[in-house]
Amino acid sequence: MEIVRTVDALRAAVAAWRREGGTVGLVPTMGALHAGHLSLVAEAKRRTARVVATIFVNPKQFGPNEDLARYPRQEAADVALLEQAGCDLLFAPQVEEIYPDGFATMVSVAKLGDVLDGAARPGHFDGVATVVSKLLNMAQADVAVFGEKDWQQLAIIRRMAGDLDIPTEIVGAPIVRDADGLALSSRNAYLSADERMRALALPQALQAAARVIAHGRPVAEALADARDALRQAGFDPVDYVELRDGVTLEPVEASGPHARLFAAARIGTTRLIDNIIVEPR
Ligand code: PAJ
Repeated sequence: MEIVRTVDALRAAVAAWRREGGTVGLVPTMGALHAGHLSLVAEAKRRTARVVATIFVNPKQFGPNEDLARYPRQEAADVALLEQAGCDLLFAPQVEEIYPDGFATMVSVAKLGDVLDGAARPGHFDGVATVVSKLLNMAQADVAVFGEKDWQQLAIIRRMAGDLDIPTEIVGAPIVRDADGLALSSRNAYLSADERMRALALPQALQAAARVIAHGRPVAEALADARDALRQAGFDPVDYVELRDGVTLEPVEASGPHARLFAAARIGTTRLIDNIIVEPR
């Protein structure tokens, strides 16, 4: 696997593949790779001849009191995993390559970017939309793959790519979970053994709420129970547990075709998110 650190080198590699008539898939990440990330590489490989992964811990999507400084960085291990996964190229730029002096443009997706994690983390999705629009423009891939783990992020990226006429097809891939049900996340590395055990309450509370809502329990009661279960497990604060339409992200009152549960909560110093579909009755 080739590793490039400049936009010019990325463009040159992709252009060479294109001249041979090959299709290209893109998998943007912030590194500290796990099986969730590698499932995106596998999905891209199913769809395109060549796969480019990116590793860039994007400062613009971290708030002033968030974990930018301590975000795990382990490029050598990531390179080995990407090589095993059959990735063709890694783009791993420095911050100055992405945001040179004078950089002044931000991409902001209204509505979808204002709710849930957008409300809890002001500016976060502007940072995501900005860096992802840049990465899509840099790579000019046929397909880019994103995980449903970050469902709201995926919805925002779809909207952004459509609104800005970016020709890359945006593909979503299912959440990869540990055997006990906790969604894989680079941030799980922050959890102590005790927190890791208690973190299991997050998928369990969502599963329980999805089940009772599908069976007709009033949504407000099911959500209140889920919040209580999270607090009892030691999550504090519980930023939100909400039922929303998975496409519009508007609140919904009952199970329906796109109904989806979303939650975010902090355990110790680690903020975790998860989401789950509510099967229509
Ligand atoms: P990061 O958190 O590294 O995630 C990179 C990609 O992996 C995202 O599309 C995310 O949804 C996906 N992913 C993470 N955990 C997953 C899991 N358990 N199952 C399936 N997919 C999973 O998301 C970002 O980075 C950044 O915001 C980024 C899009 C790279 C922009 O900076």
